[in-house]
Amino acid sequence: MRHRQRETHVERASYAGTDYRKALNIEDLARIARRRLPHFVHEYLEGGADDERTLDRNRRVFDDYRFEPKTLTRVGPRDLSTTLLGRQHALPLVIGPTGYNGMMTKNGDLKLAAAASAANIPFVLSNVATTSLEEIADVEDLRAWMQIYFYRDRDYVRKLVERCRTARYETLVVTTDSAIYGNREWDLRNFRKPMQPTLRNLLHLLTRPRWIADVLIPDGMPTFKNLGDLLPPGKQSVQGASAIIGQQLDPSLNWDDIAWLRDHWQGKLIVKGILAPAEAEQAATLGVDGVVLSNHGGRQLDSACSPLEVLPDARKAVGERCQLFIDSGFRRGTDIVKALALGADAVWLGRATLYGLAAGGQAGVAHALDLLRGEVDRTIGLLGLSQASELGPEVLGPDRRHT
Ligand SMILES: Cc1cc2nc3c(=O)[nH]c(=O)nc-3n(C[C@H](O)[C@H](O)[C@H](O)COP(=O)(O)O)c2cc1C
Repeated sequence: MRHRQRETHVERASYAGTDYRKALNIEDLARIARRRLPHFVHEYLEGGADDERTLDRNRRVFDDYRFEPKTLTRVGPRDLSTTLLGRQHALPLVIGPTGYNGMMTKNGDLKLAAAASAANIPFVLSNVATTSLEEIADVEDLRAWMQIYFYRDRDYVRKLVERCRTARYETLVVTTDSAIYGNREWDLRNFRKPMQPTLRNLLHLLTRPRWIADVLIPDGMPTFKNLGDLLPPGKQSVQGASAIIGQQLDPSLNWDDIAWLRDHWQGKLIVKGILAPAEAEQAATLGVDGVVLSNHGGRQLDSACSPLEVLPDARKAVGERCQLFIDSGFRRGTDIVKALALGADAVWLGRATLYGLAAGGQAGVAHALDLLRGEVDRTIGLLGLSQASELGPEVLGPDRRHT
């Protein structure tokens, strides 16, 4: 099943070229990304698990929430700034962790990081990034956070945490929803073996000479830069690495691991991938600094609920003991404002900024952030408010005000 979207008037009027500067919204950028990427990379970016019910729901859920604006409120210039883990940022947004960004464009992680720095928002480097965490730590004025997975080889986890300490990372993000790899059937269909595209995909690749010149020349497929200690000698290639990552993910991940990390990491700690409010509560009790409500953008458990649906209960469960973040399906300023109104401190972006990256590199990411900034700004103003921090459930219609 693939993106059974209704055709909306937005889609009918969508931009049909490949110039990211002409994109009027994130969906325009998504279409440009599709035109620029080889098929197997595009499917890696877009795809969800199993029948993609979670993926679908992540977009449709926003329809269930409607605004009840106030109009005569003397709206002034809007202030979208916010405090995230103790520091002031320009927007209630974070560029979240996505692996293998070097497949979208050369040095994809560095381009995302530079755009985050310019927009004054944090950037989270994925454990399976194609740029070393030390290189990202050097990006000027960037607030870089590092995402880690727990592998069976706990010694690797210990060494990775140590590397983050040495590189002066202030925040670790542990992803908890991927201890078993999701069933992404498009991956099975597009590849003969891990990272070896089928003949059909190789032929399609020939229709993307610009991507080949950008990504593959001169070094070939980008490699994982933070997994060295996990991969046995002779298995350092992308093919070898991706097979080993799957085998190394540890389904026995549990609260003792989070407690261990809390004890061994003096910096800020965020747990990403929570949906049950009881788990958000437990994380707060353990002393984590932030929880990301997430279903991994529909790439892990199919038929999972949307983080937006559990947000009010999760906020009640954690109170103000830790910050509460959310991701999965955010493409519009109105989506972001709904989450802020329901109690999120910030929204993490996954595909929204990746579309910008694939469509126009660093400038494309900046364009995606500009679009979202403009939409959030306009939405808040149309609701009759001047500050993002004033948002609460009262801006939602009567059926949602008491959620
Ligand atoms: C291409 C891709 C790669 C991803 N890789 C990672 C990863 O390495 N680590 C992680 O914690 N989450 C990863 N995610 C999940 C994102 O951090 C985020 O939860 C998800 O993209 C949010 O959904 P959205 O893309 O619909 O906004 C990935 C998502 C995508 C689309």
